[in-house]
Amino acid sequence: MFFLKDVKYKSILDIKNLHIMKNKITCIVGESGSGKTTLLKLLNKMLSPDEGKIFYNGRSIRDMNSIELRRKVVMLSQVPLIFSGSIRDNLLMGLKFSEKPLVSDTILYNILEIVNLHKDLEETADKLSGGEKQRLSLGRILLIDPDVYLLDEPSSSLDEDTEEVIIEKLVSHTKSANKTLVMVTHSKRIAKTFADNIIEIKQGKIVI
Ligand SMILES: Nc1ncnc2c1ncn2[C@@H]1O[C@H](COP(=O)(O)OP(=O)(O)O)[C@@H](O)[C@H]1O
Ligand SMILES: [Mg+2]
Repeated sequence: MFFLKDVKYKSILDIKNLHIMKNKITCIVGESGSGKTTLLKLLNKMLSPDEGKIFYNGRSIRDMNSIELRRKVVMLSQVPLIFSGSIRDNLLMGLKFSEKPLVSDTILYNILEIVNLHKDLEETADKLSGGEKQRLSLGRILLIDPDVYLLDEPSSSLDEDTEEVIIEKLVSHTKSANKTLVMVTHSKRIAKTFADNIIEIKQGKIVI
């Protein structure tokens, strides 16, 4: 799905060869500051490499329209993005931005079920806790229904039990809907349990 060849970004990343497989769960692990977030941002062109090439399904992403790429490859940032308004508004915002048709409340409640957020769609999003906001942001991204999810520490502010439940649902959704999941995680346990492939980064380089 992705192939990186001799990619360099500032003095932050230096990657000779890296494959990320389609329809698989890939976990990215490594110390804080090792370049994990930077790698995710390179994959959907939020950043562009100074050297080297990144291919998506065989095409160099340099030659792809950024908006078109970001409809297929969606990133969930480490800090949840919450808009003022209701939970419903926040879920629908992603569809509006990506110019996709809006959906019924039944579908929205299904999404809340996947992210384990048992709240009313009318509730104000500002009032949610940090972990709940993170799950709401995740729900927004699931609704956009991209081919690839790039998730930056999606469970960092969740307790272990909730984390396990959410990641499990996410993984089963990825498999049943033939999606590709690339997830940064600080949890070795999560990586060992769910990943088909684990990429470890140390000081900007892939550890083999
Ligand atoms: N835009 C930037 N310009 C310069 N340095 C940056 C920039 N963004 C991040 N960094 C630095 O690059 C390194 C890797 O950052 P990051 O990819 O966020 O690491 P991680 O997600 O693994 O914690 C860190 O040392 C960070 O301070
Ligand atoms: Mg990071």
